[in-house]
Parts: sequence; structure tokens; C-alpha cells
Amino acid sequence: MTKIKYQTVTGMHDVFGREQIFYDKVEEVARKIANFYSFQKISTPILEDQDLFIRSVGEGTDIVEKEMFTLKTKGKDLLVLRPEGTASVFRAYLENGMQSLPQPVKLWYYGPFFRYERPQAGRYRQFWQIGFELIGDASPVLDAETILIAYNLLKDLGFKKVVVNINSIGCEECRKDFKKALSSFLKNKKETLCSDCKRRAETNILRILDCKNPKCQQILNEAPQIVDYLCPDCKNHFKQVLEFLEEIEIPYKLDPFLVRGLDYYNRTVFEIGFEENKEEEAIGSLIGGGRYDNLSKALKTDFVPAVGFSMGVERVVSLMKLKEIELNLKKKQGVFIVQVGDLAKKKALRMMEELRKAKIDVFEAISKDSMKLQLTKANKLAINIVLIIGQQEALNNTVILKDMVTGKQSTVKQENIAKEIKKRIK
Ligand code: HAM
Repeated sequence: MTKIKYQTVTGMHDVFGREQIFYDKVEEVARKIANFYSFQKISTPILEDQDLFIRSVGEGTDIVEKEMFTLKTKGKDLLVLRPEGTASVFRAYLENGMQSLPQPVKLWYYGPFFRYERPQAGRYRQFWQIGFELIGDASPVLDAETILIAYNLLKDLGFKKVVVNINSIGCEECRKDFKKALSSFLKNKKETLCSDCKRRAETNILRILDCKNPKCQQILNEAPQIVDYLCPDCKNHFKQVLEFLEEIEIPYKLDPFLVRGLDYYNRTVFEIGFEENKEEEAIGSLIGGGRYDNLSKALKTDFVPAVGFSMGVERVVSLMKLKEIELNLKKKQGVFIVQVGDLAKKKALRMMEELRKAKIDVFEAISKDSMKLQLTKANKLAINIVLIIGQQEALNNTVILKDMVTGKQSTVKQENIAKEIKKRIK
């Protein structure tokens, strides 16, 4: 019989073992931050109407042009595996009448997203994002709060020297003049641009600004800067955001070329990474976000301003490992049950349930018969209390309680075991 080799789809990966512990840690830190800043968790479907992303992320963007996993249902609807979370959360806000709640509505999410990208370091076709969205308020203090939350997220995960790259891309009005200026600047330089930028010059000229091709970057050194084209309102908004950041001592760098690759943004855009960004350059940005007051217009609803960010969990986990960030997991507090003999196995199974009800964590190797094997596992888990049920104990309804630190052991009646353990576990 020829064996079939099963493997994950290109650009997708399994998460398990130590890797899963890192993912859980990232989620736990995000949950604590979300609770502190009063965000409610939201889970939206993985499939959405294709139209939602065409309208929101925008037709000329890489995501919509090249990266969506689209499927046609039997009813001929065009659905996509969500490539990002903002449009879905915003759709949920509108659909569920959250406009009638006190604004801003603060929502966070954690889940898988899908983009048909060329797989490489830090770039997957299924990846996990944690996102925070503040919907329904245009105040610049919320841009600063969003950045503060993103910054604290990386800090609480154990990263040092975190820095915010920030820019303002103004509103549609200020962008009109800027696009004209950029277009005339690039007029006789188009031939030297990379092939993507040649196309972008026609479809989405702003995207040329954040092209990573060194030749394009060199040309852009002399290009006009969008901050010089901001209208008074946008300028004032940006000035206030920066003042709030200074007040809360968030280190930031103005990046005139930061425009972000999604069409819904206006005014503040930001990405967060590290001061020394060698590793980050290799894998791309960790966190990206900004204000997206344009999304409501793109979706043809009443004006709803909003701001938010999301963080790529794969990238964060790979940098946590690279920078050898300790997980600081709490030492396991619980007991390990060792059983020897058929009757003891039954008693052990029953005892596990009693201890679970008493809220004591139990570890075991219940399918094993060898005492040595079971004790080796208890040692590996570094558990300090081991309960041993042999044939004698099973018959007497007792259990041997062994303290693995002092080596002392005593025989305890099974009915008193939970009380006895609680005395020892602080
Ligand atoms: P984004 O910049 O497209 O923004 O993605 C945010 C983060 O997701 C990136 O900084 C990166 O860490 C991670 N990421 C993106 N693509 C991949 C990939 N192919 N593989 C691994 N990680 C990836 C957004 O998605 C916006 N929705 C952010 C936002 C929220 N803006 C406002 N609110």
C-alpha cells in the first residue's frame, strides 16, 4: 500500500505544543488589556460577502486585487475568507444597531484571517490577528488611546524599545492636492519605478509612498510630503494626537511615507515596531492601524468615525522566541495521581472528579500501569504533591500523599483528601 503524505495547505500551519502556549500567552495579555480599557470581545463569521471588502479595503489594494480567498456558494453568492477584521467588526456594529449604544463602542477580537500572499518569513496565508476597534467617535484623544493600547500590548508581552511610526494622510480633500503634487513629481520618473509602482501610479498613487523597493525609495526621498498638504482641521487633529502621545510619553517617529495599504484610512495612520528593527524588517510590521472615518461612507451609511489597530500573532510569537522572552508561566499548582492495579485505576478516576469539583488541578497518566512511568511524568511536570493509590489503599479507601519536595509521605482517608491538599496548596 502506498502511503499518502498529508500536509497543511501552502502558507498555513498547525499551532500546538510550546507554540500554542505562546499563542495563549499573547491572547491572555490582550484579554487583560481589553478588560482594563473596557473593550468587549466580539467574534464575527470567517466568511463574509466579497462586496464588504471590495467596498471597505478598496478595489486598488493588494488585498482586494490579489489576496482574497473567494468562493462561490451553490446559491452563486460570492463569499470570501475574511482577509482582515476591521470591515467585519464595522459591519457587525452597523448590523446590530450599536449606534444606539453610548459611543465609542470598544470591541476587540482574536481569530484567524486569510490572505493569498506569497508565503515567506512572517507572511502566511492563514494568520492570527488580535484587533481593537473604537467605533463612533472622531476625537483625537481616541487615536492616542488606541496607540497607547497597542504600545502597552507589546510592552506587556515583554518587548523593549517599542516605537510608534506615525503619519497623517489627511482627508479626501487634502489628499486631492497631494495626489496632484505627487503625480506631477513622478511625471518624468515613472520609467525608473518598479513594475508594481508603475501600476500604482495609475490605480492608487499613494501606495507608491510605502513601496519597499530601494530604487523607488530613493526616488521618493525628494517627493512632496502629505503632512505639508493637510487642511487646517486635519492638521489640528494630527497636532492634538501628537500632543496626547507626548503627554503619556509614548515614543514616536514621524514617517512621511507611511500610508498603509487599505483604502478606508484617513488622518492618523501608524505602525508599531522596535527601535532596532533588523528582525522586524525581515518579517514586516507587528501592529498596524489608524483612523478610518471613511469606512462608513464606503459602505454607504451615516457618518461613523472610528479608529483601531490589529497585531499579527505569528510575527509577535516568532519575535518573542527570537528575543527569548520568557513566558513566566505560573508553576503548576496541583496534584499528580499515581495508581497501581485495576481497582486503584477506578478509584483514581473517581478521585479526579472529586478533586475537580473541589477546584484542585489534577494531572495523571491514567492509561499507564507502571508506577515508575507515572512518577517520571509527575517529575517532568514539576508537581510537588503526588497521590498514590496502590491495591492496599484502593481496598482501604485511603491514599498515600507524598510531598515531592520534602519526600515525606502520609496515608490519608480518601474522603479527606481534598481538605488535606488545600491545606498544602496556597
Ligand atoms: P494590516 O496592516 O493589513 O492591517 O495587518 C495588521 C497586522 O497583521 C500586520 O501588522 C501583521 O502583523 C499581520 N499580518 C498581516 N498580513 C499577514 C500575513 N500574511 N501573515 C502574517 N501576519 C500578517 C489590518 O489588517 C487592519 N485591519 C488593521 C486595523 C484595525 N486598522 C484599523 N483597525
